[in-house]
Amino acid sequence: MPEVIRIQDIARHAGEQVAIQGWLYNRTDKGKLQFLLVRDGTGFAQCVVFEKDVSPEVFEAANELTQESSLVISGVVRQDDRAPGVPGGYEIGVTDLDVLQIAEEYPIQLKEHGVDFLMDNRHLWVRSQSQWAVLRVRATVVRAIRDWLDEHDFVNMDTPIITPAACEGTSTLFETDYFGEPAYLAQSGQLYNEANIYAFGRVYCFGPTFRAEKSKTRRHLTEFWMVEPEMTFCDLDQYMEIGEQFVSYIVQTCLKERAQELELLGRDVSHLEKVAPPFPRVSYDDALEMLAEIREETEDEALRQSLAIEWGDDFGSPHETELTKRFEKPVFVYGYPTMAKAFYMEPWPGRPEVSKSADLLAPEGYGEIIGGSERISNPDLLLQRLREWNLPREAFEWYIDLRKYGSVPHSGFGLGVERTVTWICGLDHLRETISFPRMLKRVYP
Ligand code: 4AD
Ligand code: MG
Repeated sequence: MPEVIRIQDIARHAGEQVAIQGWLYNRTDKGKLQFLLVRDGTGFAQCVVFEKDVSPEVFEAANELTQESSLVISGVVRQDDRAPGVPGGYEIGVTDLDVLQIAEEYPIQLKEHGVDFLMDNRHLWVRSQSQWAVLRVRATVVRAIRDWLDEHDFVNMDTPIITPAACEGTSTLFETDYFGEPAYLAQSGQLYNEANIYAFGRVYCFGPTFRAEKSKTRRHLTEFWMVEPEMTFCDLDQYMEIGEQFVSYIVQTCLKERAQELELLGRDVSHLEKVAPPFPRVSYDDALEMLAEIREETEDEALRQSLAIEWGDDFGSPHETELTKRFEKPVFVYGYPTMAKAFYMEPWPGRPEVSKSADLLAPEGYGEIIGGSERISNPDLLLQRLREWNLPREAFEWYIDLRKYGSVPHSGFGLGVERTVTWICGLDHLRETISFPRMLKRVYP
């Protein structure tokens, strides 16, 4: 057998005899010619079987291949602009074919299927070209996240998944039995990182987080991946500067390294090309005014109703969607009402009803991808907040301690991987951005 190559490297082997190990994705029968679209995990390549170039047995075998049959194909790499799949146009003129298994009739054909059907078959759907493209973008997002933080002196900490208390509100906790005591799956690693920064200055945790989201939306999973950087001697402005550099790097890395995948997904990348610092910053108060204008201008009664909001409310998806349609770049909305956010946020100087918080909303209607804030550094204020939020002091003793031994201003934020990938790929729904999504009505497969 000739040297086995991977489809992603095919251009380097033009003119050579090679082998590819993979699966049949699609087949077009043109009589004496069989066009086999083969995938091997690294890409998709057209392999052309011409009756007169192969033995009758090989031609017959090619004819009988079903979708997803596993095979080893040998042939010569040639450049052809018309060849689909590989950037630059490379295909294989087949000389030999070895069939490992003829696949049973494959449930997912290359046509439109309903979402429930595809989700029930997620274990097979991940093989589809669009899913392959999305999940490769995800992998690049994850690597870009780590690269940027590691290069900027953030020390990676792994925070616990089993925790004694809530970080982001008690209504979305997954409770579990911890040897007879209640414990909860982590909603966030932030509180632990507020301890870790006092040892390392800048840290991040990056792992799965859990929220018992009881509503079915296209922006919420019950298990999602979040990266959470936390920094000492850092105020709200400094957090936003770091956030915009970080997000710009992630987006630009995807444009550079995943151009083929974004093209496969039909993503208009012109918006993404504009993602560079500085990002616009809008106060919550000004955002409310913009929303009021949008409500006045629209003829759409349903939209007008969904945008109804009063000072003090947090934004919902409709508000974020409409606001971010008006921006070309991601936008920071800062200064949310204290009561709309989590207990740990530093109040605005002179305006205790406002918090030193900022969310980053992605453009084109995508909405929140980052939530963050400056944290309370005064122990008495923190105690007051725990009381106001009805949180049990015992579970937070260690967290209060952090404010007693050299407390300093500090800030941090959390970026959701799935929301970010949804935006970069231009998808309608979060569910395609993780290989096996967990949602309100979905724990299988
Ligand atoms: O705004 P959130 O709830 O902030 C926190 O958890 C803070 N403790 C982060 C921090 O300051 N260290 O969540 C942060 C981000 C959101 O902007 C969103 O991208 C994502 O996490 N997120 C979700 N993604 C998918 N499904 C859900 N149910 C999500 N909830 C939050
Ligand atoms: Mg949030």
